[in-house]
Amino acid sequence: MKVSVKVPATSANLGPGFDSLGIALPIYNTITIEETVLPGTGIEINLMSEDDAIDEMNFSNIPRDETNIVYKAVEMLYNSIGQEPSELKINIQAQIPITRGLGSSAAVVVGGLLAANKLLGSPADETALLSIATEVEGHPDNVAPAILGGFVMASQEDDGSIVYRKLNWPEDWDITVCIPDFELSTNIARSVLPEQVPMQDAVFNAKHLAMLIHAVDTKDEKLMKIALQDKLHQPYREKLVPGMKEIMEAFKHEDGVLGCVLSGAGPSMLIISYKYDLDKIKSIVKEVWEGQSIKTDIRTLKIEPKGAEILD
Ligand code: HSE
Repeated sequence: MKVSVKVPATSANLGPGFDSLGIALPIYNTITIEETVLPGTGIEINLMSEDDAIDEMNFSNIPRDETNIVYKAVEMLYNSIGQEPSELKINIQAQIPITRGLGSSAAVVVGGLLAANKLLGSPADETALLSIATEVEGHPDNVAPAILGGFVMASQEDDGSIVYRKLNWPEDWDITVCIPDFELSTNIARSVLPEQVPMQDAVFNAKHLAMLIHAVDTKDEKLMKIALQDKLHQPYREKLVPGMKEIMEAFKHEDGVLGCVLSGAGPSMLIISYKYDLDKIKSIVKEVWEGQSIKTDIRTLKIEPKGAEILD
């Protein structure tokens, strides 16, 4: 028996919502898990992509044994019901660019878990799956929107439990994802963050996060433009993303552009706009990045509303 699950890309943080907000985007990985009947065949992990943004180099660094994160998540699910996984074949059909801040690892972990859960007769509920996915992947702000779709707040509390809610997102706000041709690992992007931040920066983010939640809920474009600012992670990550500061600066005074933020831990950038010339967005980003010999893949998308889907 085999099960396939299609899982969307995600963009975490949205500026002031560091480690707590994420949205799902319509770029997908499809994960298929097959329990093979031949004992002793071990695990087999295959990765495929027809997307030019994902090259062989990206794939070569991904482990194909028990240390693979998809296998680890699946094993944890089996163990949670007192079972060991049998021989498994895991196929990943990838469209989400890797190490670009678009939740590719959250997508494969979520896909593997949902597929394995279906194979096992659905013993785990959504909260349990979210917990395992967070334990393996580390970022509830990516795994929650990958499962639920849309705009999601998620927090791992001190006792380890995950608190999450799906929130409304204005359908007519455009999201432009700008993906540069260089990688940035989340580990490196987290290593530049300080252990402590000034009190006024923490307060700044609390205020802007409150504004953001209200702006999105009431579709208040004017408030959203003020809300999309951050002092907890983006200023520290600027040095890792050439052109980031210039791109953010270029959109500050463009009416109709509600904000420009780093997507997750970067290096992709996200521009949220309303009734604005999307070609102009592309040309502004291209001008900065191509001026630094960085190739770009720029896509204007609507939010992905549904989240992970088990395919028939
Ligand atoms: N919130 C996490 C970070 C997302 O910014 O490091 C990682 O995908």
